[in-house]
Amino acid sequence: MERSEGNVKTKTPVLECRNVGRSFDSYDGSGKNEVLRGMDFEVYENEFLVLFGAGQCGKTTLLNILAGLDMPTEGEVLARGQKVTKPAPERGFVYQKTSLFPWMTVEENVGFGPKVRHLPEKEVQERVKKYLDLVGLTGFEKSYPNQLSGGMRQRVGIARAYANEPDIMLMDEPFGHLDAQTRYMMEEELQRIWQKEKRTVVFVTNNIEEALFLADRIILLTNCPTHIKEEYEINMPHPRDYVDPEFLRLRQLITDNMDLTL
Ligand SMILES: Nc1ncnc2c1ncn2[C@@H]1O[C@H](COP(=O)(O)OP(=O)(O)O)[C@@H](O)[C@H]1O
Ligand SMILES: [Mg+2]
Repeated sequence: MERSEGNVKTKTPVLECRNVGRSFDSYDGSGKNEVLRGMDFEVYENEFLVLFGAGQCGKTTLLNILAGLDMPTEGEVLARGQKVTKPAPERGFVYQKTSLFPWMTVEENVGFGPKVRHLPEKEVQERVKKYLDLVGLTGFEKSYPNQLSGGMRQRVGIARAYANEPDIMLMDEPFGHLDAQTRYMMEEELQRIWQKEKRTVVFVTNNIEEALFLADRIILLTNCPTHIKEEYEINMPHPRDYVDPEFLRLRQLITDNMDLTL
């Protein structure tokens, strides 16, 4: 797709994925299971990049590599030009299933990252307040995760990632376990949050509507082994409408380009 002057691609990348491949030993020990091949792309400052691909195509494997939780068997990942070799607070992660500490209150969960990094208590408290307000959870500071709905727990997860003020946020199908209505609501919420407090985001999903609702750019993944099939610049204004003719056109275009051979 055409790129106009001054768009995201003309800036320096926050993250570079350079020819990344990942193979695992096959379960029966008979050989290699190649999951990712030749993954080559950049992520730009304040861009909302969506990686869209079918289930089991290696999305979590790729995000783990971007985070530094796993190492590629080929290629490398650079964060601001530095090779990624381990996880770091500059790369925040929002997980598929909420991974909040059940024994901690909402405010303790959100403040956990800044606290372990020994930020002054006053700053920890300021961040907790700021980011709970951002995700609309002011008043729930003393609640425990199991007292909250699934959508609220994911809001806490987002606030917790924001509280570290990371350079980039990696989101692994964060709304995949929510019911359809809550999922729509959370997609709108995430857009509102991101418009208010922009961050560089890599968001993974197997849901085309979610991808189109959120993305500045969509990378379409295709599998066996997973590689990049196509890239789409999404220029529709926000908030987007699921039944807008342009939305439906892009939905058709992208799904037609998916390989559904599993
Ligand atoms: N630790 C591992 N050991 C062996 N194979 C793995 C491992 N992690 C992932 N895989 C393989 O990678 C494939 C893709 O997994 P995953 O990244 O979780 O996909 P997705 O997140 O797109 O659903 C799995 O089907 C599995 O074959
Ligand atoms: Mg996954």
